[in-house]
Amino acid sequence: MAEIESPRKPHAIMISFHLQGHIIPFVNLATKLASKGFTITFVHNEFIHHQISKSQNNSTQVDIFSEARNSGLDIHYTTISDGFPLEYDRAGNLNQFAESFLLDFPTRVDEFVGKILHSQSSSSYNYFLIADTLCVWPAKIAKKYNIVNVSFWTEPALVFSLYYHLDLLRKNGHVPVNGLQENITYIPGIQSISTKDFMSYLQGSESTIIHTIMFAAFEEVKNADFILCNTVQELEAEAVSALNENQPFYAVGPVFPTDFFNNTVARSLLPESDSTEWLKTKSPGSVLYVSFGSLATIDEHVILEIAEGLLLSEVNFLWVLRPGTVSSDDDEILTVGFKNRIKDQGLIVPWCKQNLVLSNPAIGGFLTHCGWNSILESIWCGVPMICYPLFTDQITNRKLVVDDWKIGINLCGGISVSREEVAEKIKILMGDGKSDGLKEEMKSVRNMMHNALDGSSERNFDQFLKDLKAKILAKTKD
Ligand code: UDX
Repeated sequence: MAEIESPRKPHAIMISFHLQGHIIPFVNLATKLASKGFTITFVHNEFIHHQISKSQNNSTQVDIFSEARNSGLDIHYTTISDGFPLEYDRAGNLNQFAESFLLDFPTRVDEFVGKILHSQSSSSYNYFLIADTLCVWPAKIAKKYNIVNVSFWTEPALVFSLYYHLDLLRKNGHVPVNGLQENITYIPGIQSISTKDFMSYLQGSESTIIHTIMFAAFEEVKNADFILCNTVQELEAEAVSALNENQPFYAVGPVFPTDFFNNTVARSLLPESDSTEWLKTKSPGSVLYVSFGSLATIDEHVILEIAEGLLLSEVNFLWVLRPGTVSSDDDEILTVGFKNRIKDQGLIVPWCKQNLVLSNPAIGGFLTHCGWNSILESIWCGVPMICYPLFTDQITNRKLVVDDWKIGINLCGGISVSREEVAEKIKILMGDGKSDGLKEEMKSVRNMMHNALDGSSERNFDQFLKDLKAKILAKTKD
């Protein structure tokens, strides 16, 4: 059957969500879509643009897609204000910032999209929206302008399912969890999950503005025309197919850059250190990579136990200690004294090119907070994990890594951890023979992911493109 073509090249308007772990896959999705012949207007908020520019040689003029455009991709780049001046402390005023994101930002997006569409002399129907699932505005705007609404979910299908079936969980009294531990077997596509593995936003009180945003976003997504998920169908087959019963839901992950090791599109909010030379001095598989991602804060006492545990293990380590990781004001928590004691056993950097690090032969394990991007990247590189989830989806992602796929071990049972426990787990993961089973499982999961890239994920993506074009065409006839 001949493929249905819309009259003009489809044009995606992609307005990013302002967090590092969302920006990375969103940028990758933009280049992937452009490589399929689509036109993209990609939009960061001005603050994010400024941060990325600063991380790149301090320039304020970086057009992050210029290199991609030179290579033939049709991507336009612009910015939108989030309503605050650049110098405003967003993290320090989280409630005010989040409230504005919920209540004011949608109006800005509306005006922005309206301007783009009205600047077109002919029909605007070749335009469509792609937004992060956590955005609270897509459905209303897509409806107003009668354009197709695509939602991009950057976390696993399991997490999506739990949020999606929130009403059911509430009806059964399982959310908020409030400390009760029970096994749930009634969520479509999820055989069994303990309430202890629910995302942090389903545990305890539901009263913060972040809860309001999360829950509003999951009402919004029920009106999306298509949902793309950064997961692998073979890894979450039942959850994906159950979600597909409700709305067109495509497993298209891992959505990585074309060149895994080298990003042609700047997307980092912090300058990236290059540890290649140091890693060169270490033997294959001998270094533990340690990172707790872009968002989480950790208690000072815990950081010190982890630091002492790393030393005690006598295993080499490369540790990303992002500014702001420690929940006290003391960013110099690991003082000169500690750094001297590390000697050549470890290297501490503020941020790195994680893909480059994980794919370095010297890396033999990853002590991770279980951010979904980190998990996908670790699997891609075949690096087994020690899991230390801190909040949000990380708690639920841990279940997939440790309990379901058996490619990682737990650091401990909660947040509190001792140096002896840290050292013991590191020795188990990195020591000779002790984690051979885990490494075998990792090989097979890694193969599954590599095969999916040209297999199920590519097919699903192509199916999505076909369905999208048909939907755009149908809109022109509305
Ligand atoms: C949070 C959520 O927990 C995660 O599941 C969601 O998908 C995004 O937001 P975050 O702390 O950002 O997570 O972690 P993660 O999802 O792992 O994303 C971090 C990204 O930053 C990864 O792509 C990683 O490669 C990159 N990174 C991290 C670097 O480039 N350099 C570093 O030094 C550390």
